Amino acid sequence: MKTTSITTLVFGAMILAGCGGNGGNGTAPARTNPVAACLTCHSFTKGVKRPTAPNLHDIVGKPAGSEPGFRYSDALKNSGIVWTREKLDAYLADPRALVPGTRMIYAGEPDAARRQAMIDYMQNGEGDQAQ
Ligand code: HEC
Repeated sequence: MKTTSITTLVFGAMILAGCGGNGGNGTAPARTNPVAACLTCHSFTKGVKRPTAPNLHDIVGKPAGSEPGFRYSDALKNSGIVWTREKLDAYLADPRALVPGTRMIYAGEPDAARRQAMIDYMQNGEGDQAQ
């Protein structure tokens, strides 16, 4: 009985410490980059262009589809969206629900707190960082 409750406490403490939320690989990095999943396609560093996806430096407040030379989908280009925090939140929760026909292949982040961390990261103008 005693062993069981101590085990429960230890697991509880691990969850509170955030060990449960890093993709389940069993190791807990000291700091997890909230936009790690985006870096395969996007750059967040000012001026860095990638053919795969538009640059996201300073995206908060910009109209959708505004990177010169990037081949956006018609759906996004013609969406009329301005990337407020609310619109970014909706796009990151479910890109194809907000912009049917978007070329962004990303299933969506169901966790609202993680979406907020991503948006904070973009608004703070941080560049690409490993982890
Ligand atoms: C598989 C590649 C890929 C991944 C992963 C990805 N994106 Fe995208 N993203 C794209 C593409 C391609 C577009 C352009 C979509 C279009 O034209 O419809 C885009 C567009 C966007 C836009 C609109 C940019 C603009 O100029 O209007 C935002 C904001 C965005 N992505 C955020 C993110 C965030 C945040 C993540 C990580 C959670 C992410 N994306 C993950 C490929 C990706």
